[in-house]
Amino acid sequence: MAFPAQRLRRLRQNEGIRGLVRENELSANKFILPLFAVPGSGIRKEIAALPGNYHLSVDELVHEACAAKDLGIPAVLLFGLPESKNDEASGAYDPKGIVQRAVRALKRSCPDVVVITDVCACEYTTTGHCGFIKDGYLDNDSSLELLTKITVSHAEAGSDIVAPAAMLDGQIAAMRAALDGRGFKNLPIMAYAAKYSSKLYDPFFKEGTNSTLAFGDKRTHQMDYSNADEAMREIALDIEEGADIVMVKPALFYLDIVARAKREFHMPLAVYNVSGEYAMIDAAARMGRLNRDSIMLEALTSMKRAGADLIITYFAKRAAEVLERKTGSGYGHVEAEVLEEALAKVR
Ligand code: PBG
Ligand code: ZN
Repeated sequence: MAFPAQRLRRLRQNEGIRGLVRENELSANKFILPLFAVPGSGIRKEIAALPGNYHLSVDELVHEACAAKDLGIPAVLLFGLPESKNDEASGAYDPKGIVQRAVRALKRSCPDVVVITDVCACEYTTTGHCGFIKDGYLDNDSSLELLTKITVSHAEAGSDIVAPAAMLDGQIAAMRAALDGRGFKNLPIMAYAAKYSSKLYDPFFKEGTNSTLAFGDKRTHQMDYSNADEAMREIALDIEEGADIVMVKPALFYLDIVARAKREFHMPLAVYNVSGEYAMIDAAARMGRLNRDSIMLEALTSMKRAGADLIITYFAKRAAEVLERKTGSGYGHVEAEVLEEALAKVR
C-alpha cells in the first residue's frame, strides 16, 4: 500500500466537509429545560448558582416555558419550592400545591409544551430527605406510598410525563400500578434509573430548591459512584417494572454508564446534566479560563456521542440560541465574539 492511502484529514479540511461526515449533532428538540416554581406572582429571581435560571412564580414560569418552546425546546422538567415544608411532605401531593398549580397553568397556557414533573419528597420534607426516615434510615415502603401519592396528584393535575427521582426499590412498579388503577395507563414514566449519590447536586439543593439535608446523606438509596454493573441492574429493573424512558444522572462524569446503557438496553435514554456540572463551566467561564459557549457545546455533544437521546440541562435555552445562530466558524469551536454579538441581539 502506497503511503498513505488513507488520509483521514481529507474529510476535515473545511466546515462543509466536516459537517457532511459529522456523526452526532445537538438539536434543541432533544433538550429538556428544568424549571423551578415558587409561590407568588411576578417573581423571576435568578438562581445565583445557576445563572440564566430562575425561581419563577407560576405566571412567569408559563412565559419561560413558552419562550423555551419558541426556541425549539419541547419539554420542561418541573420542580417546586413549597410555601412551607412538613414531616408528611403534604405540599408534594396537595392538589393546590406549587407543582400542581404550575402544571395546570402550563397545560392551559402553553398546551404544546411537554410537562414532565419530578417526583420526589425532598423539596417538601422538613429533613430534606426523599421520604420518611425511621431510625436514621430512609424507610422504603412507607416512602413509596408517599411517592405514589405524589405521582397520582401530578397525573391528576395534568402532567404529561412523571419522573420518579428517589431511587427507592420497587418505585416504578408501584407508580405504574397506581397510575393504571386510576385511569392513567397511557401516562409515561421517565425513571431516574441510574442516579448516583453525587456532590454535583449541591448547587441544586443549596440554591435551586433550598432542600439541604438536615442530617445524613442519600447513600442508602442513590448509587455509589464506584459502581457500573449495578447501574445496569437498576436500569434493567426499572424497564421490567414499566419505565418508558430511562435516565442516567449525573451526565459528564458518568458517560461510560450512558454508553453502556445505550448499548445494553434499546430504550429512549435521557441524561441529566446536573447543577454542579453547570456550575463548573459557569465558574471557569467567569474566571476567563474557558469559553462558555464552546465548552457548553463540547460538553453537551459528548453526552450525545455517548448515546443520550434526551438531555436535561440548565443550558437548554442558551444552547438552543447558540445552535440557531451557529455560524461558519465551526461546530464546537464557536468564536466567542461572534456569539456574544449574536446573543446580545436577542437579549
Ligand atoms: C430529586 C432531584 C435531585 C436533583 C434533581 N431531582 C436531587 C437529589 O435527589 O439528590 C438534582 C439535580 C441537579 O443537581 O441539577 N428531587
Ligand atoms: Zn429526593
